[in-house]
Amino acid sequence: MLELQDVSARYDPKVTVLRHVSLKAAEGQTTCVLGSNGAGKTTLLKTIMGLIPSRVGAIRLAGEPIHHLKAHQIVRRGLAVVPEQRQLFPKLTVAETLELGAYKDAGAVIVRKRYDLVFGLFPVLAERRRQLSGTLSGGELGMLSIARALMAGPRMILLDEPSLGLAPKAVSRVFRTIQDINRQGISILLIEQNAKKSLAIASYGYVMQKGAIAAEGDVTALRESEIVRRAYLRG
Ligand SMILES: Nc1ncnc2c1ncn2[C@@H]1O[C@H](COP(=O)(O)OP(=O)(O)O)[C@@H](O)[C@H]1O
Ligand SMILES: [Mg+2]
Repeated sequence: MLELQDVSARYDPKVTVLRHVSLKAAEGQTTCVLGSNGAGKTTLLKTIMGLIPSRVGAIRLAGEPIHHLKAHQIVRRGLAVVPEQRQLFPKLTVAETLELGAYKDAGAVIVRKRYDLVFGLFPVLAERRRQLSGTLSGGELGMLSIARALMAGPRMILLDEPSLGLAPKAVSRVFRTIQDINRQGISILLIEQNAKKSLAIASYGYVMQKGAIAAEGDVTALRESEIVRRAYLRG
């Protein structure tokens, strides 16, 4: 579904942040990218979405090159993003936020179906549809952020540390939700520091260190690998 081939990126001409990254996220699967703070995970996501001006290498979505496209064009092709900072407008209600996630030109029937999907996944958002998003709890904001991405009707979603800053219960719920979304046939690229939970729901994974892929494999192999055990699964 998504393929990166030898992708490098930099913010500053002198400092390369992403180094020769190659990865694949298969259709219908959950693929995870693990990495500690500063490893380059968010940069990876921004690079995929065309938000870093200086990058080289090939990025393809469903076989089609997207590395020359702008973020909104990439979203149109079916790739939606749940950013690290849940960038929502606090003065919009839940319903208004979701409406923004859908395209203006999407037909009413399609939008209705997406509401059904989203409210099915997140009944609490249906209850709170008239509430301002600025007044939601951290867990609810995380749900709204995922729900908004789903309103675009994506084939694939990229999630940047969806469990960050959530209470343990909310963390478990977020991972269950990601599984539910994947079961709807939507491919997932999950960027996370929580290796244990990510490896439990993904089929294939990558480990990023200092902007490069340090290890990859199917999750059973990765769980047993020295690098993951040492860096992420202590204790
Ligand atoms: N806007 C930016 N300008 C310059 N350097 C940046 C910028 N954003 C991130 N970096 C640097 O890129 C590296 C990777 O950051 P990031 O991709 O945010 O890592 P992660 O998401 O894995 O924590 C870090 O060294 C960080 O300081
Ligand atoms: Mg980050």
